[in-house]
Amino acid sequence: MSSTWFNTLGIQEAQLAANVRPTFSILSLAVASTVLLLGVALQRADSQFERAHGCGTPRPLQYKWPFALDLVIDAFRIIAEKQALQWFVQIFERTGPTFEQNVLGVKGIDTVEPDNLESILSTQFSDKLLGSGFDSQAQNVDPTFAPLLGDGIFTQEAAPWKHSRDMLRPLFSLNRANIFTQVEEHTEYLGKLASLRLFESFLDALIQQTRDPKVLRDQLLNVMLAGRDTTARCLTWTFRLLAQHPHVLAKLRQEIGSVVGLGTGSRLPDRNDLKRMKYLNPVFKEVLRLYPSVSINSRTALEATTLPTGGGPDGTKPVMIRKGEAVGYSVYVMHRLKKLYGEDAASFRPERWDPDMKNAVDLKNIGWGYLPFNGGPRICLGQEFALLEAGFVVVRILQKFRSFELGSKDKDVVAGTEN
Ligand code: HEM
Repeated sequence: MSSTWFNTLGIQEAQLAANVRPTFSILSLAVASTVLLLGVALQRADSQFERAHGCGTPRPLQYKWPFALDLVIDAFRIIAEKQALQWFVQIFERTGPTFEQNVLGVKGIDTVEPDNLESILSTQFSDKLLGSGFDSQAQNVDPTFAPLLGDGIFTQEAAPWKHSRDMLRPLFSLNRANIFTQVEEHTEYLGKLASLRLFESFLDALIQQTRDPKVLRDQLLNVMLAGRDTTARCLTWTFRLLAQHPHVLAKLRQEIGSVVGLGTGSRLPDRNDLKRMKYLNPVFKEVLRLYPSVSINSRTALEATTLPTGGGPDGTKPVMIRKGEAVGYSVYVMHRLKKLYGEDAASFRPERWDPDMKNAVDLKNIGWGYLPFNGGPRICLGQEFALLEAGFVVVRILQKFRSFELGSKDKDVVAGTEN
């Protein structure tokens, strides 16, 4: 007879067979039938909801093994190779712009349809779909990010978020007298001291609103996190793409030369100069199209709701989102859709944004198909500030350097497969 942990407690298996197993069987039967009944009831409620809202079933994410284990294994490998974003592009190309995933038993919807993004970020904002789906009535902050970021604009939802947004908005007003000087100093010296001065300037403005040290610390940390790596990523990609596209670099330098001059003795640009540089803006637009700093994101349903498109055999019907289900969206993938940007969607071509040029695809009404700074009430607070800072940096560096090139190991890397 094999030894079990029951033996160690001095209970004989025969006794167990006689007394425990029937009770256990009845219990498990009761639990199983309750779960089954609940499942059927939920399924029926879902079907009723779907019928009432004219929803269609979204396409399923394709996988070969149960629970999508093959995809999970692929994901580990692809993340290690730092090719996750390209992998997402391929998955959406294969499956379609909206699909349902059921990975390891967890269901969710993924989409890159502009209409759905408008619904997620604007029409249904704070009503049905929120950041991390935590219960903002019961808890004030997102429990996942709170240990890192405290109680600030990024981790909050609903009323506390609104309060933070109202409090922080004035800090970003470009009319604040000294903000451009700080950007200048920051860029000219790119040193610790200048960064500290910029930080101090934010702190000064925030102190006008509150003196609570925890609020000051948490909000500053949130703003620093929001503004640092995002702008750094934008600048990194700008210089890389300029090095790979010398004709764009030459055109930009020519513009800079005609507005503020090039080389030693050239003057610093001010805000109006940057506005007058008509090519600088499309260059950043194109950089942030191909390499948006926030490439993937998600929202969670507070109650059952729908997205306008992606259901049914041709993907044109609304799609149901169950309560608690996450909706993932990838601006990176959306910005590379040929349906939106044409056959050359993967190419870096700032001219595609020029309204005076004849382009195969007119991007005047791209709307929710272009979202590097997000959209709706939670749109990036630092958008203008970031473009001003990045513009200043690019102009100053291009005034000093005629050209630059990629390191030898980077030269042959195909766009989109960089790691
Ligand atoms: C190129 C640079 C930047 C990009 C691409 C960018 C992009 C974004 C995006 C996509 C979001 C939305 C995140 C979400 O809701 O899930 C966001 C939010 C935010 N950004 Fe930026 N950002 C940039 C620079 C900055 C800078 C420089 C600052 C401040 C100094 C800043 C401050 C914020 C704040 C405070 C939020 C939160 C807004 C809210 O939740 O209401 N960002 N940004």
